[in-house]
Amino acid sequence: MNAVLVASNRGPVSFTLSEDGGLTMRRGGGGLVSGLSGVTKDMDVLWVCAALSDGDRSAVRLAPGGRLDHAGYDTGALRMLDIPPSTFHRAYNAIANSTLWFVNHLLYDTPNSPQFGRRFRREWESFQSYNAAFALALAEEAGPGARAMIQDYHLTLAPAMLRGERPDIRIAHFSHTPWAPPEYFSLLPDEVAVEVLAGILGADHAGFLTERWATAFMDCCEAMLGAEVDRPGHTVTYEDRTTRIGVHGLGVDGDTLWARALEPDVESHMAALRHQVGDCRLIVRIDRTELSKNIVRGLLAYREFLAAHPEWHGRVVHLAFAYPSRHDLPEYREYTAAVQRCAKEIEDEFGTEDWDPLILNVNDDYPRSLAAYRLADVLLVNPIRDGMNLVAKEGPVLSPRCALVLSREAGAAAELGGDALLVNPYDVGGTAEALYDALVMPEHERLARGGRLRAASTALPPSAWFTDQLTALELT
Ligand code: G6P
Repeated sequence: MNAVLVASNRGPVSFTLSEDGGLTMRRGGGGLVSGLSGVTKDMDVLWVCAALSDGDRSAVRLAPGGRLDHAGYDTGALRMLDIPPSTFHRAYNAIANSTLWFVNHLLYDTPNSPQFGRRFRREWESFQSYNAAFALALAEEAGPGARAMIQDYHLTLAPAMLRGERPDIRIAHFSHTPWAPPEYFSLLPDEVAVEVLAGILGADHAGFLTERWATAFMDCCEAMLGAEVDRPGHTVTYEDRTTRIGVHGLGVDGDTLWARALEPDVESHMAALRHQVGDCRLIVRIDRTELSKNIVRGLLAYREFLAAHPEWHGRVVHLAFAYPSRHDLPEYREYTAAVQRCAKEIEDEFGTEDWDPLILNVNDDYPRSLAAYRLADVLLVNPIRDGMNLVAKEGPVLSPRCALVLSREAGAAAELGGDALLVNPYDVGGTAEALYDALVMPEHERLARGGRLRAASTALPPSAWFTDQLTALELT
């Protein structure tokens, strides 16, 4: 039985199955996983996650009770849930990633979507089953008076379900995404909106990355549930239970990041990139190829900058790293193609025999990304909307003289806004001007702002983020 449990869709490891049936284990990706992995390995925590692929399922089926650590893997205490693939796909792709993610990032093309018909209702049932599987596993694993830390939009129903099974344990939920304002959240069918909000309110403590997302959540609870909201006191009371609303920013563990960035594979990528771009200045972006990251408008802004500033031709290169994500969804495949088309147009319009204005890379290569951070003169982070955005925090840690162009719609803007060049992510012209201002920023100003950005980025390392929530849970 365990005292502290963590639950998230994606776990700290994933497995790939080779043709001969062998299994290879890799570390999982994404901000949530990298933040939590550092924390759980130093504490006595059981992590519950879903099997995401055939490789994961093969590994789980050989593990007693789904415990990969009991099957000899070096994962820390980890239980992986073998949810039936069709249920998992409907819950993960259709509901979590195509509905809840779209709502909270304001991504719908509303004249055409969403359409909540019969098919959606079936998908919603899968989402309920998926959440119930997590709630059951947590109920089985939790010791008396345990604390369960449930993560993100995939698991919005699990807190209330778990409370139904185990009223004795303390439950926290944390949203790593933004939260939509009520007028957008109410795109969801009413009964679904109510279930999501009431699901989270099943927790004793509901955490958000910034005050803005916490306020939006409280606004939705008031508008859609008629819940009693105490904004200054940060509580929501619904059906005689009170949930405390917490704001817990998440930053970077600077020492660990630096240690990794000094390894030889990163150094050799730095040498290769430097060789490729000569002594040009570098504008860098690093993202998942994700609709909310606004990569196409970022490229269009670079194009406007080049058109307006011919004096920079031959003196600057844009390194755009956009690694693959959620390719089961057609919108994401189309978006990747749109990014590639836009990049090609820029290369055709401005490229010369001795100058490539843009290097776009759509493969995942972590050491190469770290090398790009270290070389960056400008870092472009322009999401439409983002819970926090850890790229905006990793950059200043690894490149002390890098100017940061940052969307005002990223959660990170609340902490870094004073020293970043803030942009409206829809304003391509304004972003182009900010790129120019960032390139010509004097050295002393780069260093001064960079120092403050680095301090703010490392102020809330994942360990503090996690223990703060455990403490807040004690106080509820
Ligand atoms: C965001 C979400 C995480 C998710 C990550 C990667 O950061 O908040 O929960 O794990 O994206 O997305 P994926 O669908 O690949 O897990």
